[in-house]
This record gives sequence, C-alpha cells and structure tokens, in this order.
Amino acid sequence: MRREVIILKSPDEIEVMRASSRIVAEALLILKERIAPGVSTIDLERIAEGEIKKRKARPAFKGYKGYPFCLCTSVNDQVVHGMPSKRALKEGDILSIDCGVLYDGFYGDAAFTSPVGSVGEDARRLMEVTEKSLDLAIAAAVVGGRLHDISHAVQSTVEAAGFSVVRDFVGHGIGRELHEPPQLPNFGEPGTGTRLKPGMVLAIEPMINAGGHEIKILDDGWTAVTKDGSLSAHFEHTVAVTQKGPYVLSRI
Ligand code: MF3
Ligand code: CO
Repeated sequence: MRREVIILKSPDEIEVMRASSRIVAEALLILKERIAPGVSTIDLERIAEGEIKKRKARPAFKGYKGYPFCLCTSVNDQVVHGMPSKRALKEGDILSIDCGVLYDGFYGDAAFTSPVGSVGEDARRLMEVTEKSLDLAIAAAVVGGRLHDISHAVQSTVEAAGFSVVRDFVGHGIGRELHEPPQLPNFGEPGTGTRLKPGMVLAIEPMINAGGHEIKILDDGWTAVTKDGSLSAHFEHTVAVTQKGPYVLSRI
C-alpha cells in the first residue's frame, strides 16, 4: 500500500510554525479568561476574530470545506466542530474551543476544554485525564519512535481511567496545509506506524468521551456529539519532532 508522503519542515520553517501556533495560543489564552456563565459562544468567536486579525493572521477554519467560523466551540456532549451561537454558557458546562490560523504561509492548530464556573467531579476528571493523555502523547513524539506510540499513549491513559477514544476523528500532520499526512489516530499499537523523524510537525488532538466512543453528526452537518449523551473533552497542540525532543509550538 502506498503511503502519502510526510513533508518534513526545516528548522526555519518550524520557527514560522512556532509564530503561527503562538498566535493560536495567545488567542486561546484570551478566550479562556473570558469563559463564564452568561457568555455566549458567538461572543467568543468575535473576540477570536479580532485577536487573529490584530496579529496579521488569517483564521484557518473559516471557509474550510464551507465551515463558517474561526472557532469550533463544543459544549458538554458536543465532541468537536460545534458552531458558535447565541447559546449562553451555563455554570457547570464544559466548553472545548478549537482554533487554527494561517500566518506567513504556515498553519497552527490548538484546542482546550475548560470548565464554565464550577463543574462536577466527573467533568473535571474527564478534562484532567484528556489533558494528561495529550501530555504523554507529546512525550512520545521523539525521533526514532513510531507514530502509533503517540496514539497508544493517549489510548492507554484514557482507557485506564474508564473513558473512551473517539475513532471517527484523528490528529494530523500540519504545515502549509491545515491537514497533511500522516493521519494520527488516538488509538493504536505501540511500535507500529511510520518512524518519527526530525522535521515532522503533528497536530496531536485526543477527543475523549466519558461514555462510549460512538458519535453522531447533527443536522447542521458539522456538530459531532456523543451518541450516548455523555460528556466529551478535546485538547490539541501543534508539535514538532526535533533532535532535541518534542517542541510544543502552540504553548505560550
Ligand atoms: N482541529 C480541527 C481539525 O484539525 C478543526 C477543524 S475545524 C474545520 O480538523 F472547520 F476546519 F473543519
Ligand atoms: Co487539528
């Protein structure tokens, strides 16, 4: 079977991707501070658009396959690709915000899930475990390792906690395109998959459900929700594989 070619980035290109990913990180930090009961997700969309334009970047998602917003805002049982709306956030909700930008020819992509006010213990644990699975996945993004070592780090972490990995969406290579090869599932066998090389840049993005892994897409054609109505969390970083180890481009 022919695999698609993974485009390796030079150290200079990685620094441009650092700049685009940092813009995403800055926008997400500003948004995080604005999350509160009563705030609507369309308010957050407007803030994001302003912050991205102020930094001379372009929103990556807007116009992508016809998607109409800069952000994906996914609340509670929404897994990914929730659309900003006048829906006001409520105390106890969890909100995932995903943002990508194009800057100087390269994309950056990142996401986090945050509580709205104070949330239940189950929601808090889901977010903690999902973020931890991303940290362990990043730690596996090393030269000489294999792609599915990253996948396995996510899967083993979240399944040990009793949660499940969404199968229908995956992480991805990123560069001059938002989505480049390789696809990066959040489940897999360690020691398998393509060998990790310096210059690979990956958007690592565990999408984790508190209940079963199955999802369905709502009639809007975008919003993915858990089939069983359970909560879902999503964390994402753009990460370069380098000789010095994983370089998290989308961290402030
Ligand atoms: N982080 C997601 C991804 O890499 C967000 C894409 S949203 C879309 O697929 F609207 F652009 F599709
Ligand atoms: Co992504």
